[in-house]
Amino acid sequence: MTLDVVILAAGKGTRMYSSQPKVLHMLGGRPLLRHVVDTARALSAERIVVVYGHGGEQVRSAFDDEGLVFVLQETQLGTGHAVQTAAPALESEHTVILYGDVPLIRVETLARALRERRGLTLITANLDDPAGYGRIVRDAAGRVVRIVEENDATAAEKAIREINTGILAAPTTKLKAWLQGLRNDNAQGEYYLTDAIARAVADGVAIHTVQPSDTWEILGVNSKQQLAELERVFQREQASRLLESGVTLADPARIDVRGELSCGQDVSIDVNCIFEGKVALGDGASVGANCVLKDTTVEAGARILPFCHIDGARIGPDSRIGPYARMRPGADLAAHTHVGNFVEIKNAQLGEGSKANHLSYLGDATIGRNVNIGAGTIICNYDGANKHHTVIEDEAFIGSDSQLVAPVTVGKGATIGAGSTIAKDAPAGELTISRPRQITIKGWKRPVKRQKSKDS
Ligand code: UD1
Ligand code: CA
Repeated sequence: MTLDVVILAAGKGTRMYSSQPKVLHMLGGRPLLRHVVDTARALSAERIVVVYGHGGEQVRSAFDDEGLVFVLQETQLGTGHAVQTAAPALESEHTVILYGDVPLIRVETLARALRERRGLTLITANLDDPAGYGRIVRDAAGRVVRIVEENDATAAEKAIREINTGILAAPTTKLKAWLQGLRNDNAQGEYYLTDAIARAVADGVAIHTVQPSDTWEILGVNSKQQLAELERVFQREQASRLLESGVTLADPARIDVRGELSCGQDVSIDVNCIFEGKVALGDGASVGANCVLKDTTVEAGARILPFCHIDGARIGPDSRIGPYARMRPGADLAAHTHVGNFVEIKNAQLGEGSKANHLSYLGDATIGRNVNIGAGTIICNYDGANKHHTVIEDEAFIGSDSQLVAPVTVGKGATIGAGSTIAKDAPAGELTISRPRQITIKGWKRPVKRQKSKDS
């Protein structure tokens, strides 16, 4: 049976106090709407129809070229009106209604709601505090008869704890018919999607209800407070998944995964680490406290010590990085490399067994195996207009506080004397040094501090 998904996302999001459309606010490193679109895709929907309104162009351009159908709801006259607006775009046999600001609904919960594609299925929840939600009204036999909105409810109806999450699944043709001629003679003057339920009942259609496994699945985002709460829920869930797969987390409440983190066996992660984009940690890899890793691969046995910022890098097996190291895009470190504190590496390969232990900038370079980069070495890759490449061949030794002015090559096994500025190629196997000879001025006296006169 074919399926279309409608995502309602036309609301203004007034309580976010933001110039950005609500559904573009980030949760776990992805816009709210991205979560919902991904969920819709996981249901193998034929069509995903996004009803947009406020900030529409921004929403559209954020989801360009993805085959979504965008439908503009110019004025927000209610959820029923929003689905009516989407109705001409719906062609599949069944339709699911989701919400752009309810990001964490599980695919599994929706799959349960879709198991029986007959009649109308509502996702409902029993809440201790149902205030603000539409209530599910059942007859004496327990059959759903209608939904009443909070503002239209009697005191007795307000006491009902089963609430409407808004998420529902229905046969498309029937849904379209029920939406025809909705009226807005209610407390909010809106066309309510929820009024379709009483019409379905009048049509003799069975109403099923399905409940989510966790209440947070149905929570919406209307404020930064709610966004922050759902972010914690989302992070807690990801941390649980990592723990369940055998990853050691020093504190599951102090890790943030804003993308995809995949881990091998015996990986351990200390507190306050942030993972963005696609990060892979190989078997036995460890990440120290307070690290940020983005789009990076850390291979087996490598150790990232505390306070590192690593973006777009590959860290080879059994390497040791940090503390306080910065890897920028294109940093490609082979096995058994050591990179220490205050070393920045960008667009550079560091060969197997090579070391840069302290205070260096290595940019746009090819560095061979077993090279030792002394403290304070700077590759001067930029002449103010263009970037140039530096080559340091295997087993070279770069003395501390040297500058290599690109383009330049340091040959295999070459030694550069400490404090040198190397602007011409340094031959293999030789010592190259460029600094004034050391002289001593015999008998030189330090200046003596003049005595200040007492009355000045
Ligand atoms: C709706 C339900 C209520 C349910 C609650 C769950 C109706 C009439 N009521 O109430 O039973 O308990 O959700 O949160 O459906 N939207 C549009 N266009 C519109 C109006 C709304 O796209 O014209 C979108 C909003 O962006 C939002 C969603 O629909 O994402 C829900 O709208 P909202 O006005 O918040 O509905 P509630 O009054 O909370
Ligand atoms: Ca609302």
